[in-house]
Amino acid sequence: MEIRRDGIRILKNPQKAPHAAAVFDEGKARETLRFHRSLPAYKETKLCALHALAESLQVGGIYVKDESSRFGLKAFKGLGGSYALFRVLCERFGLDPQQTDFTDLVKEPYRTMCRSIEFATATDGNHGKGVSWAAGLFGCRAHVYMPAGSAEARRRAIEEAGFEAEAVITPYNYDGAVAHAARLAEENGWILVQDTSWEGYEKIPAWIVQGYLTLANEAVRQLGDTVPTHVILQAGVGAMAGGLTDYLAHTFEKPPVFILAEPDEANCLYRSLEAGDGQIRIVEGNPETEMAGLNCGTPCGVTWPVLRDETDFACALADEVTEEGMRLYADPLGGDPEVVSGESGAVTLGLAARIARDPELRELFGVTEDSVFLLVSTEGDTDPDNYKRITTTHPL
Ligand SMILES: Cc1ncc(COP(=O)(O)O)c(C=O)c1O
Repeated sequence: MEIRRDGIRILKNPQKAPHAAAVFDEGKARETLRFHRSLPAYKETKLCALHALAESLQVGGIYVKDESSRFGLKAFKGLGGSYALFRVLCERFGLDPQQTDFTDLVKEPYRTMCRSIEFATATDGNHGKGVSWAAGLFGCRAHVYMPAGSAEARRRAIEEAGFEAEAVITPYNYDGAVAHAARLAEENGWILVQDTSWEGYEKIPAWIVQGYLTLANEAVRQLGDTVPTHVILQAGVGAMAGGLTDYLAHTFEKPPVFILAEPDEANCLYRSLEAGDGQIRIVEGNPETEMAGLNCGTPCGVTWPVLRDETDFACALADEVTEEGMRLYADPLGGDPEVVSGESGAVTLGLAARIARDPELRELFGVTEDSVFLLVSTEGDTDPDNYKRITTTHPL
């Protein structure tokens, strides 16, 4: 059953079913946090409470994990890249990851051994920057491939984040860039570190998903006694959303309502849920959306089973929804903190606002004056010119 509003298509997940025990559980989250804490750049990101906005939208609370300051990279993605590289290097050097951390790998003999290891990945921006940065921390080189139309500012930022890193804008769409990176990795003996998975390539993507748990782990502790009733997560391939959904669904006594947000043009998870047969669907072609980080056509196989079973609603959204979210963050009400949130970061706030203002949607999503939303602003102004254009030239 599809419900439509301006700029929004809503699907109640016909495949919702009780999901088996968590894969991305508390134990994995703890292991990951232990590694991240050993990184010199590690610092917990803020959980922002938007009390004034919550009051104006007649809900009990809106809490936003602000990832714009994560590792100085302006996005959460370095969490996954750094953890995956750590696990790859531990495996290569025969080290037990439970007994090893970052400080061990930057000592000899590992430091020298790292110099001959090269990584490859494809990215719409943030994942590649995370991999480039993390490779540089270990003294490894990274080769990063981007889809056609990627912003030059994002390409440059990837090279600058790394150590002798190379970032190239290819003529392909996102899935084509992934295939290109995989091919070059195979030919050159580089290690592919991709944030999406396919049959036979699951181990590294699963480590990346595990890396994202740190942000959920922090958020749960920062929430204290506050229990979210609604969690809205944005998805490209659904690696982040799947990992966090699995973890959060098993963290609270009463699982929150899980809502997935995707660009209308690149709604591969929406279509996969809608199809109703347990199988993924792929969006072909060159979808256009401002939400570059969410512009992906193929769901991540590692997290698809979680999203299939645990998602309550999927929403396919026009760019105007994220633009509204960006402006709400940039021009806060009352004493609310300002959050710098980019195109892929703000879409969930735009959606929350539209749900909260619409009586029929409130009823559909079970939103009341006591509802507490948990959102993740997954990036800051990763394309500063576009951020400025959206937040300054179109006042609310
Ligand atoms: C800023 C931002 N938010 C969200 C996502 C979505 O993550 P995933 O592809 O795991 O669904 C991405 C992916 O690149 C991103 O860059």
